Amino acid sequence: MCGIVGYIGNEQAQDILINGLSKLEYRGYDSAGLAVYDNDEINVRKKKGRIKNLVEVLDTQPLTGTLGIGHTRWATHGEPSDLNAHPHTSSDGDIAVVHNGIIENYLDLKEMLIKEGHRFISDTDTEVIAHLINKHYDGDLLKAVQAASKELGGSYSIGVISKKEPDKLIAIRKNSPLIVGLGENENYIASDIPAILNHTRDIYLLDNDETAVLEKDKVTVYDENGKEVGKQVFHVNWDPGDAEKGGYDHFMQKEIFEQPRAIADTLTGRILDDSIRLDDVVITKEDLENIDRIHIVACGTAYNAGLIGKSFIEKYAQVPIDIETASEYRYKDPIITDKTLLIVLSQSGETADTLAAIDIAKKAGARVLAITNVVGSSIAREADDILYTNAGPEIAVASTKAYITQVACMMFIALHLGRLKGLVSDEKLKEMTDALIDCSKQVQNALDQSEDIKNFAMDHFSKDDMFLIGRGLDYSTCIEGSLKIKEISYVHSESFSAGELKHGPIALIEDGTVVIVVATQEKTFDKLLSNIKEVKARGAHVMLIAQEKHKDIASEVDQAFFIPNINDDIAPIPAVVYLQLFAYFLAVARGCDVDKPRNLAKSVTVE
Ligand code: M6R
Repeated sequence: MCGIVGYIGNEQAQDILINGLSKLEYRGYDSAGLAVYDNDEINVRKKKGRIKNLVEVLDTQPLTGTLGIGHTRWATHGEPSDLNAHPHTSSDGDIAVVHNGIIENYLDLKEMLIKEGHRFISDTDTEVIAHLINKHYDGDLLKAVQAASKELGGSYSIGVISKKEPDKLIAIRKNSPLIVGLGENENYIASDIPAILNHTRDIYLLDNDETAVLEKDKVTVYDENGKEVGKQVFHVNWDPGDAEKGGYDHFMQKEIFEQPRAIADTLTGRILDDSIRLDDVVITKEDLENIDRIHIVACGTAYNAGLIGKSFIEKYAQVPIDIETASEYRYKDPIITDKTLLIVLSQSGETADTLAAIDIAKKAGARVLAITNVVGSSIAREADDILYTNAGPEIAVASTKAYITQVACMMFIALHLGRLKGLVSDEKLKEMTDALIDCSKQVQNALDQSEDIKNFAMDHFSKDDMFLIGRGLDYSTCIEGSLKIKEISYVHSESFSAGELKHGPIALIEDGTVVIVVATQEKTFDKLLSNIKEVKARGAHVMLIAQEKHKDIASEVDQAFFIPNINDDIAPIPAVVYLQLFAYFLAVARGCDVDKPRNLAKSVTVE
């Protein structure tokens, strides 16, 4: 969480930094700030709240200068306020820093620095960094940053400027994302690629403990021992337009509507005549023989995609799976051996808990397979096998296209492992890959019904509670739909396995309660029909998502949506789209900030 940017070049830094921050606002929006060097001074502007508040300040007090750093904050230490906003400076104002991460030993460092005469003005952990660099400064900013970093515990990516060395911008990374953008006579740092896409698509991916010294016309990278590192230029193939709203009201809406293309991009080049090709998934038949268990670990929506993936792999590859959220996994002493395959899913590839789970598993000898959307992300770099979702940048905090492409990737993995074990015939492979190819159309069909979904949302947006029920894969879809509803519309929603209704939850149903039923699976359809009758009899307003072959039951419910008939295992992909749209319209009707829901940030890079 938190986004940092930095610029050194010949252009005025202010607008470049603000533009970069606006692309990172999904990472946190408690405050924003800039520090720009000009005429032997570092001038700082910072403001509580969204970047637009900072822009209002800059309208009356603009910053001039061609070297600067910027920050958008998700508060960890210290309440959201002007004072706690970044950048933070040393007492003499010589050094300014922006930081993403947490300095775990900041209290000890602060105490020591106060005793040495440093004056602190904020409650943040970050302020110690500025003072510490200042303490170590002896005419060489690089050495001071490197010395300070040796004393910092925790995770961080940091951007530093000093008025004593205005020809440099220094960046350092440890367990928090940071990239360097390479321009012509100008260079950039950023927490994520969209922040620099308008300027360059050539980047360096910094590794942990690397320090980059950016000058206008060159970038030099050092390892933790101060040795120069030869970095490879990484060319980003995302289009700058992908990180813009492109005529939609919200990024979430745009990303929902991009899903037919996203799913097609996930499939492109991977389905061959009689096999599937999975880029950097290099597990062989022999490797698989040596794997006796699979763990699936992820957070939030990625975890929900993992739930569906568990069913796929158990069905097609017949390997027993344990699935756990990363925040639980890392503290519960899971049984991991060198025969364990850990599958992690992460849109951002930077989620702290998921990274910690990988660390634990690798130390115990496990092999790690990552499904992620961000090429070169920390998780991609830690994994032994990688499958990219190829969904394009996802900016809205609520994950949509990342989810459906993760589900498609999980099907790929299941089929691949099943093939290696000789469990998936040529015919089955063709049936499933054809269904995957076809599902872009089913997703489009869901999007085409968005007006009706909106109308149902408009009829019910003032409800306090909503429930979602399903069985098997449909239950997993409900879990994801429920997360979408609560995170962006703030309506309390819960998902239940429909078979559990009679064991308690049905007591919640009363006149007017909204119940969304997902019933795409043939083997449980009749059971769900009975559940529909049970909740209807108690006054529920029911919205149903089912396959077209069951169109005749439309009259049993208040609103029905039908997916053109599809293989049951692929049905979760179009089914969730109705729920995403419903959550979206609910949030809009309730006047919520759809793309930046309260208290949340897109990338959870701290614990
Ligand atoms: O980047 P990741 O996929 O690792 O993020 C995991 C969760 O933080 C994320 O899915 C979160 O739950 C979304 N806000 C859900 O829409």
